[in-house]
Amino acid sequence: MHDGELKVAEAATIKRLHADLPVNSTIHLWMKATSSDHPGEMAFSNQRGTFGDVSVRNAEEYEFRIFQVYGGGAVELSYDTQKTSLSVAYWFTQAEVLDTGITLLHTNPGNAAPNIPDSYHFRPPFGWMNDPNGFGRYGGRPHLFYQHYSHGLTWNTMHWGHAVSSDYLRWRHMPIFLFPSEELTARPDKRGGAFSGSAIPLVEGPGIRVFFTEQVLDRVPEQQIQLTATSSDLIMAGQAEVILPYRPVDQSLTPDFRDPYVFRGPDGLWKMLLGSQSDAGGVILLYETQDATAASGWTFVSKLLVETRHKTTAIECPCLLPVDGPAAAPETRWVLIFGLMNGEDQATGRKNLTLAVVGHFDGKAFTGEFEQELDFGTDNYAFQAFVDGNTIVGMGWLANWVDTGPAIDFPTAMTLPRAIHLIDGALHTPPIGAAESLRSHILDRTRLAGGEAITLVNGAVEILFELAEPGAHFTLQLNHPEVELQVVVNDDGLAIKYSEDDQKKSPYYLARGAKPKRLRIFLDYGSIEVFADHGRWAGTKRIKGFEPVQSVWLAAEPGAVERAIVWALKP
Ligand code: FRU
Repeated sequence: MHDGELKVAEAATIKRLHADLPVNSTIHLWMKATSSDHPGEMAFSNQRGTFGDVSVRNAEEYEFRIFQVYGGGAVELSYDTQKTSLSVAYWFTQAEVLDTGITLLHTNPGNAAPNIPDSYHFRPPFGWMNDPNGFGRYGGRPHLFYQHYSHGLTWNTMHWGHAVSSDYLRWRHMPIFLFPSEELTARPDKRGGAFSGSAIPLVEGPGIRVFFTEQVLDRVPEQQIQLTATSSDLIMAGQAEVILPYRPVDQSLTPDFRDPYVFRGPDGLWKMLLGSQSDAGGVILLYETQDATAASGWTFVSKLLVETRHKTTAIECPCLLPVDGPAAAPETRWVLIFGLMNGEDQATGRKNLTLAVVGHFDGKAFTGEFEQELDFGTDNYAFQAFVDGNTIVGMGWLANWVDTGPAIDFPTAMTLPRAIHLIDGALHTPPIGAAESLRSHILDRTRLAGGEAITLVNGAVEILFELAEPGAHFTLQLNHPEVELQVVVNDDGLAIKYSEDDQKKSPYYLARGAKPKRLRIFLDYGSIEVFADHGRWAGTKRIKGFEPVQSVWLAAEPGAVERAIVWALKP
């Protein structure tokens, strides 16, 4: 081969990315060496030539690098794909990112978000997502953090992704917020990471304090411990510190000890809930601290709840909120919400239910009055809520470990944001009022009620209908190319009938005994959310894949449906 030919061959493996950067830009990138024989390298250049480079040694997992471009301008990033593999690159400016979000420069087919611009549910810009974390309003804006792995569409070493909003519906993606220890990020071997947790406004100044579980599989003596970190800029978390290095002793707990949820108790002290498991069943642990900053002094108070009926392997993601009055008032009722990992409802075959128990909380003990399923569809898992002014706002992961797990790939979403109200002795979880701002135009207000099929323009619609009598039977047929899907009211109650084209028997997604009058159903690419009677019953189900529901048809006795409206939705 001549010299000239060699050069051409080399150049074909060079990849170039271009960015027009404002001054003081920050680039985040994750790259790895394609072999341990040589480093992976990225060069940064502009018209004047190369002005910097970064390199990595690891050939097993993508390593994180930060590169600052102080001068801004047109910048080229270039790397040789024979030596270097790039997973993600984005840029932002520290001064503006809360207003503008990040600008994505690169993802791979293996971690790219699905291309569904009409979809209105929150999804990460790349990679895998599960639980919402640290959900709250800080510096005036709603912030959502979430369990995240950047380099694939499967669960792996957990980081906290981050997004900011002004209405809980339209989100701007932020830089990755919280990183696990370097030891954990060395290999994508699913040993753990920065697991779920919560956040509070920083007491010491502007910013937030986050609480999370660090999991290191098979670490002795504890595989799960609790950490805290602060962030004054709301962009990246600082150095984390251990606050609870051990489970409480003599409580016969399994190693499950996770998902710290921190909130202010009725006595004004910071409290923390943790999910665990004992010989008796699922456990929620209560801790508290006298430290006004919540940074230290955490002591074990009690087992707040022990759940013996559902054969869980652990309670996950507990949260506790005052639901009908101020936290400090003794008459206020509180709602305790938690996920039942691996628990199964024998009657319906549904797994991993989320329960909500309403009762009294005096700061030390919780006395339940009644219990309800948070969501009969079960794909509203790891739900997390906080009190925003006068309302509770919460969100869940629009999936469940039943469908997924460390070996199964798919991009996931969050549920619509929901409010929580206690009305006539029952919890109601309707979508927040602002969800009406998704309505773009009316597709129909006569034909669906009249028994005709309605063809949908795309996969994003809201269907509302009202029955003449509560509990009047109907079948809403939703035609989808890949799955069988119906919403029905029958003698059993209100149900989502969902089945995939395989031999597995599907669970029966049933709100037993429900006799609703008003139905509000949100369809999106990959999901259905059913709200009946202002959220008295809520059912959320992930739909496999991203094909839209193509048409809908409502079957009922003549006169049973009083009116129906179909809205096209727009994110
Ligand atoms: C719930 C959960 C949490 C854990 C996290 C790990 O979905 O299992 O208990 O902290 O996911 O990603």
